[in-house]
Amino acid sequence: MDIFAHTKIPTITESELGLDEVSVDTVEKEGQEGNIKNNELEIISKLIKKAEPLTVFEFGTFDGRTTINFARHTPPHAEVYTLDLPKEKMEETKFPLVSTPTLSETQYVWKEKSGTRYVGKEGGEKIVQLYGDSAVFDFSPYCGEISFIFVDASHAPDYVRNDTDIAVMLAKKPGALILWHDYGKWPGVTAVLEWYYVNNPHFRGIRRIIGTSFALLRL
Ligand SMILES: C[S@@+](CC[C@H](N)C(=O)[O-])C[C@H]1O[C@@H](n2cnc3c(N)ncnc32)[C@H](O)[C@@H]1O
Repeated sequence: MDIFAHTKIPTITESELGLDEVSVDTVEKEGQEGNIKNNELEIISKLIKKAEPLTVFEFGTFDGRTTINFARHTPPHAEVYTLDLPKEKMEETKFPLVSTPTLSETQYVWKEKSGTRYVGKEGGEKIVQLYGDSAVFDFSPYCGEISFIFVDASHAPDYVRNDTDIAVMLAKKPGALILWHDYGKWPGVTAVLEWYYVNNPHFRGIRRIIGTSFALLRL
């Protein structure tokens, strides 16, 4: 069953993305609350393996489960940047973080260390851990340089808008891929992406990948 069928953005299948023939060997398969789902981990690993990006940028490291899979499925010389909000900064964010009656994102910020799942693992040497609030972080060294961007940090509408605008700025055009998580799940992500889809011609090609809460745009 496609639980995100209520959403407005048109869908695309794995087959249409040419992922049927791509084989991956995902690691850290056991997920926890806050990680992407297992089928999403497979798909994101296939997408990145097929795209062969030399530069990747992730908004929202959490425990680094997806990050290490980026490292394992990119070419040997790829660089994987991942930005996370340290828990000490949780009370000082530019925009408020968000809670709904069933979902609270502060629990993902509140951890001893970011990226514990990639430290000391094969591929971990490709990963550059960055820290900060995505609304005030200095992204200038990465502008126009990134071929695959994963937006999965705060789900507050102000942050989704901020991170989306920055993702477009970071993208190496033409051809860069931007992937958002939690479309159809967190109201802020859904509302902001649907606004861009309707109002911004550059976003007409955005598609939700069937069976996931991923929205994908190729620039
Ligand atoms: C849902 S988790 C990310 C999950 C991870 N991408 C994965 O695939 O397992 C969200 C992460 O975003 C981080 N975060 C929240 N607000 C942020 C902000 N304003 N700037 C940077 N990171 C933020 C949190 O600390 C948390 O680690």
